[in-house]
Amino acid sequence: MLNFEFQNPTRIVFGQDTISRLDTLVPNEARVLVLYGGQSAEKNGTLAEVRTALGQRQRYEFGGIEPNPSYETLMKAVELVHAEKIDFLLAVGGGSVIDGTKFVAAAAKFEGDPWRILETFGGAVTQALPLGAVLTLAATGSEMNFNAVVTRKSTKTKAFFATPLVFPQFSILDPTKTYTLPARQLANGVVDSFTHIAEQYLTYPVNALVQDRFAEGLLQTLIEIGPKVVNEPADYDSRANLSWTATMALNGLIGAGVPQDWATHLVGHELTSQFGLDHAQTLAILLPSMLHVRRDSKHAKLLQYAERVWGLTTGSEDERIDQAIQKTRTFFESMGVKTRLSEYSITADAIDKLVQPLQAHGMTQLGELQDVTPDVCRQVYAASL
Ligand code: NZQ
Ligand code: ZN
Repeated sequence: MLNFEFQNPTRIVFGQDTISRLDTLVPNEARVLVLYGGQSAEKNGTLAEVRTALGQRQRYEFGGIEPNPSYETLMKAVELVHAEKIDFLLAVGGGSVIDGTKFVAAAAKFEGDPWRILETFGGAVTQALPLGAVLTLAATGSEMNFNAVVTRKSTKTKAFFATPLVFPQFSILDPTKTYTLPARQLANGVVDSFTHIAEQYLTYPVNALVQDRFAEGLLQTLIEIGPKVVNEPADYDSRANLSWTATMALNGLIGAGVPQDWATHLVGHELTSQFGLDHAQTLAILLPSMLHVRRDSKHAKLLQYAERVWGLTTGSEDERIDQAIQKTRTFFESMGVKTRLSEYSITADAIDKLVQPLQAHGMTQLGELQDVTPDVCRQVYAASL
């Protein structure tokens, strides 16, 4: 029986030349901190447009937020917020910068040790600074959700928190700002958003007809445009469709009232923190083997996926499921993302090293049925070699 609440307060401003809208979206009297990553937003002119649009507002800047943003770096931004009495945060970048900005928003107002924000998965947050975003990389959906992932470098801990207090007030999505993305990041974006949809769709049926059809439409959109986005020169329509698909994949809509998995993501975080793989690389490795190892509990949805997403209608049920998983893997590989641990020089002897931190981080009952134990993860890693 469907039973849920759904609310998403983020305003999306979508289209070419929309950065100038910052002038109406950011309060005139705000003391704004613009947060960004490495050099990409400076090089491609996004930051210049942001500075112009902010006009006479009191503006400060904090650069250097890394991919997989680190607690250590973000705490320096928190110091700046306090020193300059910042009251509005503007993230300019991809998921790492937006996630990092969400953390700064919560940490700047937090009493006590800010790492508690992660330890309590956001539960300890009672207030946060307002924030907005200018997105330059379509992948995570962070621009329209209340999640953030932060890594503590000193302990190699990649942890997440979520609280409605860090929903962006607005996000500007100008698809032309993604034109400078290298193929690797474009492919990562397709794989990440594909896996977000899979984690909310490939569980067990609950008669959520709208969520299912919507998820299938998003997956088919990615299958249609993914290889084109990665392998062909930039064009507005495919970048725009990728951006909107990635946003819709993780803004709460397709997840409303349905069981959710997230084992691929949570196990993947260990691969990133131990071996430095990109977030989406971990998903490309783990999703096919996760589906394979857990095919019994996901049987009905895997069959639905095989038929409706990949058009597979012949052969035995097992054969259709095998083919659907294989097509998923081939799809990732068609965009240049490797799907085997061995292709990233990770061998069988690393499996213990990967399973141990799962236990240490309390990741012992994952998945929509809480049946993904460290032992199941071991099988998934073994199937991913
Ligand atoms: O640092 P700069 O120089 O800006 O370069 C970035 C970075 O190196 C570059 N880039 C971004 N926009 C660009 C560009 N290069 C050229 N042109 C542009 N327009 O891309 C690189 C990767 O950026 P990053 O922000 O790290 O990528 P992504 O958006 O994939 O974010 C990944 C992070 O998001 C987390 C991941 O765990 C990871 O830490 N996630 C956040 C989620 C959420 N908030 O809901 C959900 C996801 O599942 C994910 O876990
Ligand atoms: Zn993801």
